[in-house]
Amino acid sequence: MEAAIMGYGTIGSGVAEVLRINRESIRKRAGEEIGIRYILDLRDFPGDPLSEKLVHDYRVIAEDPQVQVVVETMGGVEPAYTFVKAMLMAGKHVTTSNKALVAAKGAELTALAKEKNVHFMFEASVGGGIPIIRSLNSCLTADEIEEITGIVNGTTNYMLTKMSREGLEFDDVLKDAQDKGYAEKDPTADIEGYDACRKIAILTSLVCGQQVDYEDIHTEGITDITATDIRYASAMGRVVRLLASSKKTKNGYAAMVAPFLLPPEHPLYSVNDVFNAVFVHGNVLGDAMFYGSGAGKLPTASAVVADIVEIARHPDAGLAVDWSTKKIELADFNSIRNRFFVRTTAERPAIRAVFGDVEYIVAEGISGERGFLTEELSEAAFAAKAEQLQGILQRIRIA
Ligand code: HSE
Repeated sequence: MEAAIMGYGTIGSGVAEVLRINRESIRKRAGEEIGIRYILDLRDFPGDPLSEKLVHDYRVIAEDPQVQVVVETMGGVEPAYTFVKAMLMAGKHVTTSNKALVAAKGAELTALAKEKNVHFMFEASVGGGIPIIRSLNSCLTADEIEEITGIVNGTTNYMLTKMSREGLEFDDVLKDAQDKGYAEKDPTADIEGYDACRKIAILTSLVCGQQVDYEDIHTEGITDITATDIRYASAMGRVVRLLASSKKTKNGYAAMVAPFLLPPEHPLYSVNDVFNAVFVHGNVLGDAMFYGSGAGKLPTASAVVADIVEIARHPDAGLAVDWSTKKIELADFNSIRNRFFVRTTAERPAIRAVFGDVEYIVAEGISGERGFLTEELSEAAFAAKAEQLQGILQRIRIA
């Protein structure tokens, strides 16, 4: 089977590397050799062993009948969307690692692929090398999925773990994550939670079989998390983690992305460094956990190549995903209920007047402020109370 790679950056070059390193076992599993016929990129790569495969015009790939499968590892919605659409229209299977594309256009591209009787696969778009997409589409099909909660951004998990272990501030750890190749080109997508938001939108879409607009998901990042917050977390025996969550309620799926304080008994408590994990609760399955390398060159490329192997094994596109373009309405964010940890310069009588008899948290070496835990409140109720209390420095939800 002849393949083309669109986007020869970290992941695209990783795909070429995986095909080379595991050539023999991949050939056996796919039932045929997977050759790279073209690489599409704006740049030139002098000295790269695959430089003679380089083309700068996607139409060369779309118009070559020898190319059966196209890998999209460019990132971003455009021009990836235009290129992928052209490949599907030309009757080529596509696999992508691009969560921005899948979150925005996944339902539409899935429908187009079905129409053309080819595959549109996107295992690498969520959780890097963790097989979560295929699990939801093929293995957990007997269940009503009632909850998906994940740590799905490796960069922020790496940063929060490092802040926790080394007592460092946010700015000190970001560069390190970028240097290690985990972060997006613009790390804003990681640290503001946008990347995790797109991933939970994809997972929620697959669970409900409809389009979830990521703009509808309340999203907070980790840019406000400080070393002081982490010290309070340690005093409580908890860790701070960026959770992307979707829970079935009587009012629809309640989805959000935000930092949470996790106790040791939480299934995601031990997920450290760049690792990702996705906790799934099904109505008949009960609980399941998917854990593994969530970002980086080879883990992500591993998932892309696994899609190619799947395509080679089932070229007749019998694995079509159930993903309608019909939009689903999510539950109102204001109705989501949690406990909150709050830091404030207000004195105890003022805190009691607004939040009642709360549980105070004392962290060694911190003065001039108070930390406390609220009872369980809806987002709306918490916001209304927070308005009435002066001097709030921070609030983090409790998982
Ligand atoms: N920047 C992403 C992350 C890459 O850190 O998880 C994988 O999607």
